[in-house]
Amino acid sequence: MKIVKVELGENSYEIRVGAGILADAGSWLKEKGFSRKAVIITDTNVEPLYAAALEKSLAKVNIKTNVIEIPAGEEQKTLETAGSLYKKLAAAYAERSTPVLALGGGVVGDLTGFVSATYMRGVPFVQVPTSLLAMVDSSVGGKTAVDHGRMKNIVGAFYQPRMVIADIDTLKTLPREELINGMAEVIKMAAIGDKGFFEFLEGHMKQAMALDPAVLEEIVIKSTTPKAGIVSRDERESGERMVLNHGHTIGHAIEAISSFKIKHGQAVALGMVAENQIAVKLGMLPEAEAARIEEVIKLAGLPTALPDFVSKEKDKVFELIKHDKKVLNDRIRFVLLQDIGRAFITDDVKPELVKEVLFGWRKT
Ligand code: NAD
Ligand code: GLY
Repeated sequence: MKIVKVELGENSYEIRVGAGILADAGSWLKEKGFSRKAVIITDTNVEPLYAAALEKSLAKVNIKTNVIEIPAGEEQKTLETAGSLYKKLAAAYAERSTPVLALGGGVVGDLTGFVSATYMRGVPFVQVPTSLLAMVDSSVGGKTAVDHGRMKNIVGAFYQPRMVIADIDTLKTLPREELINGMAEVIKMAAIGDKGFFEFLEGHMKQAMALDPAVLEEIVIKSTTPKAGIVSRDERESGERMVLNHGHTIGHAIEAISSFKIKHGQAVALGMVAENQIAVKLGMLPEAEAARIEEVIKLAGLPTALPDFVSKEKDKVFELIKHDKKVLNDRIRFVLLQDIGRAFITDDVKPELVKEVLFGWRKT
């Protein structure tokens, strides 16, 4: 088991990463001073796979658990589901000191985090991520939220977990398309902040996609380490944390135009490809480095060219980019690369250049 620390003063916490560590969750909770009872919130896919193991681990240290299950899927990340969870927490006699464990992917994590931040003005929560995306990204950093109307993550809170327990073994049951989805954020982390890690991905992507546990453990450690540092320095995203949005300015627009048929990871991969072309055209990023990133994206089974149905809607994609929530004073904000491992934030990219890259995007 390896530990990554998120240093946030009295809100500091550890990310514990390893194979089979679900079995240790109970004793770690006990060390944190939790006793008697806990609540596990999970979804219908993850519950039958891992809830019993987590309950057993807590039972060993005499912590009784209530398991609350929600249907799987982004559609559940709503205020309505949060409302039903408050009722279920009350029915389980959850008190202000009762820890709430989020067992699942980013949907369960974001929703449980939001509910934990608001129930009784805040109860302790623990992230137990079981998807690659949740392990490398959403469980770390304290962004919690629900969607509302057509707006994603629009109602939320910064609320840090007490601990993150990432059991690599759970990735064995993750559907392949979800593994691919999470890998986009892994490649992004390497591209923006760690050239050595990027080289590791070039050499080990095949093993990762074949679920080699040692490679996956390294990937989770290497992805969470820089994120933990960034969050420690800029918890509320007033500056540096924005670098995590590399690939997202264009990615979000593609995701939205596809009505979310293109998964987030695929959209971020496409966003990285396009945003790297902007950096190449600006003379910032050497073409050869952009090509290396595209190669790794392909190795992970992620797309590098727009599907036809989005390609036909480039005008709309461009309009959406111009209205992205990262637009500031009418200027589009991008996180571009100067090199693999070196990112910078800019709002100096001319809309015409974005259009040129979008409309010049080759088909393969
Ligand atoms: P998800 O939670 O929907 O999980 C994907 C699918 O995999 C679901 O069907 C889930 O039931 C299933 N699953 C999860 N773990 C499994 C396992 N081990 N075995 C079998 N099936 C498993 O989606 P996600 O990709 O994990 O997370 C996406 C969400 O994360 C989005 O709502 C997004 O907004 C959010 N997010 C938040 C942050 C943040 O900083 N808070 C960052 C990135 C993404
Ligand atoms: N996923 C972006 C962030 O945590 O800031």
